[in-house]
Amino acid sequence: MSNLYAKAYEQSINNPDKFWGSIAEDCHWYKKWDKVLDDSNKPFYRWFTGAETNSCYNAVDLHVDNGNGEQDAIIYDSPVTDTIKKYTFFDLKDRVAKFAGVLTSKGVGKGDRVIIYMPMIPEAVFAMLACARIGAVHSVVFGGFAANELATRINDAKPKVIVSASCGIEVTRVIEYKPLLDEAINLSESKPQTCIIFQRPQATANMIEQRDYDWNDEMAKAVPQDCVHVKATDPLYILYTSGTTGQPKGVVRDNGGHMVALKWTMKAVYGVDKGDVYWAASDIGWVVGHSYIVYGPLFKGCTTILFEGKPVGTPDAAAFWRVISQHKVKTMFTAPTAFRAIKREDPNAQLMKNFNLSCFNYLFLAGERLDPDTLSWAQNALKIPVIDHWWQTETGWAIAANCVGLHRFDVKPGSPTKAVPGWNMVVLGPDGRAARAGEIGAIVAKLPLPPGTLPTLWQNDQRYVDSYLTMFPGYYETADAGFIDEDGYVYVMARTDDIINVAGHRLSTGAMEEVIAEHPDVAECAVMGVEDKLKGQIPLGMMVLNAGVDRDNDEIVKEVVDLVRSKIGPVAAFKTATVVKRLPKTRSGKILRGTMRAIADKKKYKIPATIDDHTTLDEIEESLGKIGYGNKA
Ligand code: COA
Ligand code: AMP
Repeated sequence: MSNLYAKAYEQSINNPDKFWGSIAEDCHWYKKWDKVLDDSNKPFYRWFTGAETNSCYNAVDLHVDNGNGEQDAIIYDSPVTDTIKKYTFFDLKDRVAKFAGVLTSKGVGKGDRVIIYMPMIPEAVFAMLACARIGAVHSVVFGGFAANELATRINDAKPKVIVSASCGIEVTRVIEYKPLLDEAINLSESKPQTCIIFQRPQATANMIEQRDYDWNDEMAKAVPQDCVHVKATDPLYILYTSGTTGQPKGVVRDNGGHMVALKWTMKAVYGVDKGDVYWAASDIGWVVGHSYIVYGPLFKGCTTILFEGKPVGTPDAAAFWRVISQHKVKTMFTAPTAFRAIKREDPNAQLMKNFNLSCFNYLFLAGERLDPDTLSWAQNALKIPVIDHWWQTETGWAIAANCVGLHRFDVKPGSPTKAVPGWNMVVLGPDGRAARAGEIGAIVAKLPLPPGTLPTLWQNDQRYVDSYLTMFPGYYETADAGFIDEDGYVYVMARTDDIINVAGHRLSTGAMEEVIAEHPDVAECAVMGVEDKLKGQIPLGMMVLNAGVDRDNDEIVKEVVDLVRSKIGPVAAFKTATVVKRLPKTRSGKILRGTMRAIADKKKYKIPATIDDHTTLDEIEESLGKIGYGNKA
């Protein structure tokens, strides 16, 4: 097989120094590295040690200095506010340098953390890049999380400043952010010195004197700041993601490796060049937003689209086609659930016919398994390559993909194609033995991980090692199970932990169980991810009540649903729960979540040999049937 992919892959594995070293020449450095790959402190591998750079310079100023200042950097397209606004690289530099001045005036410097709790508005991107400009570490928190989740992140990151806005706008309602922010600060032990609030016309935030400052007032008097030199290994951001407990994991991203890897992926994986329009329809609160709304496209000198809307309802299922044709999008990236939502409203893709999509080259999908139905619907409707790719918050960019800029392979439905250069993927059985082609096991990556992946968890090296590197020594555990076929195609089947994927959003059922267990009437509970036609999976709760509780079960269910919504957030989409007499368990007391999930999803299952009392399964089947799940529905 003589193609660019094969050459790149071989070199990335056998000579990573040469491979990444020559790719890194494409970036701007104040000082070059001493080492490309530094393995002096295993298992904490570092990339480009000794180098100095600035991620904001590479994303913004570099393009101005190269004479591309007039090009659009960001197109803000917001159907929910009926706004389209374009920012050139000149404009972007101006706004970012000024906001860096605002942060500096509030005492933020290198290494200080700044939490950004904002909707999909340009100011959120300015704030992220402003942090990068002065070497501060941003941590963006998704707007759909409740105050409690925000508080957990404030406590862990200990930000000096929080940047927020008065509201976010959903299809049917305006969500005021400020009351959530105030509550989160009340709940958290660590208190920020300052909050900077962007007031939107749809809601006015109440300001707390001497703590809260208005974005516009501060910008008006700001002194623009230049880019500072940071080490390649300095942290650029922390992004919290669901772990197996209520305590999220603070994934750290460094400056140098991240910049090198992301800039390279723009062409190698997504097939775009400088000047092309690239659109990731996600949210800046997720890793997709960090990597492919903000940093990747801007590093490459693309125009990125910031879309404040939904695939359906803003105003209809043609929103994506309108944006693609209006802004001449070449490559788009979203989650399969968005296409399922469109397909549900416009099954024959009639609305697409009203738009000229000749600019559109590739559709990339990730965030959850791409089901073959959605794949073929998108292929038939769009008649362009539809490309599944697999990655995680931790990895920051694709582990497996059809790298169209290197070589476009035939698509095998159900597979995100092959390992991307840099990723040495292996499937291992529980005993650590390598699986044969086609045999299911834990999908792991041989260390070192490529640049741009997590070097550790925020101030928690031990949790990093325990969570990812301990189960299979010498490998990074993805916590996804699947197989690699004889042609090297990777198949990702399921998580091996209690993470579920709801509309492309990663959530922990363990965290939901912790919240439900707080209800005074609940003795024990289990939450599992059951199949959902739109969102892929949704959480379903089963609860056993304390002895003697004599209340209406529906009322308790409603209280529990409200509790999860108020403690975790609407994004959890936790709407279904039921009361059961007992939960099925093994003799050692382990709740048989997998068996209950199989019953709910009408899948064949074997009664586990270790079950304590198999009559509990009949009871579960009855209870699930009453709420519309399983064969007895
Ligand atoms: N701030 C506040 N609330 C938010 C929010 C935000 N930024 N984002 C979502 N929510 C709320 C929603 O309003 C909804 O509340 P509801 O229960 O009152 O209806 C809830 O959180 C769940 O939101 P969502 O997952 O977006 O579901 P939805 O039913 O509103 O829409 C889709 C379904 C498929 C249209 C939607 O999930 C989508 O557009 N997905 C695109 C893919 C994506 O962004 N993936 C991210 C990783 S690539
Ligand atoms: P997140 O960290 O939110 O990006 O979620 C990562 C998880 O989403 C992965 O570990 C997978 O379980 C799942 N996932 C992401 N992309 C894919 C894909 N293309 N196919 C199957 N699962 C995926």
